[in-house]
Amino acid sequence: MKEKFKKVLEKLKDLRILVVGDLILDRYIFGIVERISPEAPVPVVEVEREEFRLGGAANVANNLASLGVKTYLLGITGSDYGKHIIKGLIKSSSIEDLTVEDSQRPTTEKARVVSLSQQLLRIDWEDRKPISGSVLNKLLERLDVEVDGVILSDYAKGVVCEPVVKRIKEKGIFLSVDPKPVNKSLYYGADLMTPNEKEARQMGKGGSLESLGWALKKELDIKTLVITLGPKGMVLFDKEYIHFPARAKQVYDVSGAGDTVVAVLTASYIASGDWHLACELANLCAGIVVGKLGTVPITLPEVLSALEEG
Ligand SMILES: Nc1ncnc2c1ncn2[C@@H]1O[C@H](COP(=O)(O)OP(=O)(O)OP(=O)(O)O)[C@@H](O)[C@H]1O
Ligand SMILES: [Mg+2]
Repeated sequence: MKEKFKKVLEKLKDLRILVVGDLILDRYIFGIVERISPEAPVPVVEVEREEFRLGGAANVANNLASLGVKTYLLGITGSDYGKHIIKGLIKSSSIEDLTVEDSQRPTTEKARVVSLSQQLLRIDWEDRKPISGSVLNKLLERLDVEVDGVILSDYAKGVVCEPVVKRIKEKGIFLSVDPKPVNKSLYYGADLMTPNEKEARQMGKGGSLESLGWALKKELDIKTLVITLGPKGMVLFDKEYIHFPARAKQVYDVSGAGDTVVAVLTASYIASGDWHLACELANLCAGIVVGKLGTVPITLPEVLSALEEG
């Protein structure tokens, strides 16, 4: 099995994948609290360091690029300082930047204030209004890029909309979706969909997870459905129903695990044609990223050394 995994990992560098979706700039402000503010009954955080990371669709792209896949990223930014930061991170992660600027909205940013590993506050900047006009036209034009597969990373902030999905489907190539239940109808006919259990239950019609999954797959005409189960791993609905238990050693922060799963499943399936192998590899990779703080991508050396350890 180990050799099979390695063979697939080697093939990833020959793949080209386009990620389309909502970009998020994840910001972490780390500091210490030693006093209460004289202005209001709130702690004062003295900042020690600050970090910016690629989140949302940009984290899916970051996972692919860091595994060696030639990765293109399409989404929107505002015209603000966040745009410069996110574009800088995209460039330094060797991702092809196809982002479109929309001066009518802010770059989506989620800032966390953290002291002694405890999150004190999260501050969000975002605007979820529908995309239209010249911004939409630019998005549609940039979908022309030649690739082996597309991943829709939908955080329901506007990029994944009917005209964009229609144009992607016209390309006739492998299409994966990491869904948000409100946009369920857009995902009809996709090759792969990877909801977590909560999202699957929101989109489905009730009953056991297994019967709900089969019904959802049929209703949306999805070729392969994978439902992620957090600490319990994931279940595959393809020709048969298979449970893959989680492989995490230690769990620190589960955010971004779903992004790793859709990236690894898509790339390794396109490279191998083997869903069993793709699920094993995705579980292994997600198990590694949940051991780290914040949104971080999986890297090739980490996967290889996890494989060596068995
Ligand atoms: N507590 C955990 N222990 C072990 N593995 C985990 C844990 N949480 C997540 N994973 C791994 O990550 C995968 C995806 O996790 P989950 O089902 O939480 O996705 P998600 O809710 O979409 O995550 P995200 O917060 O990124 O949206 C799981 O299938 C599993 O492999
Ligand atoms: Mg998710």
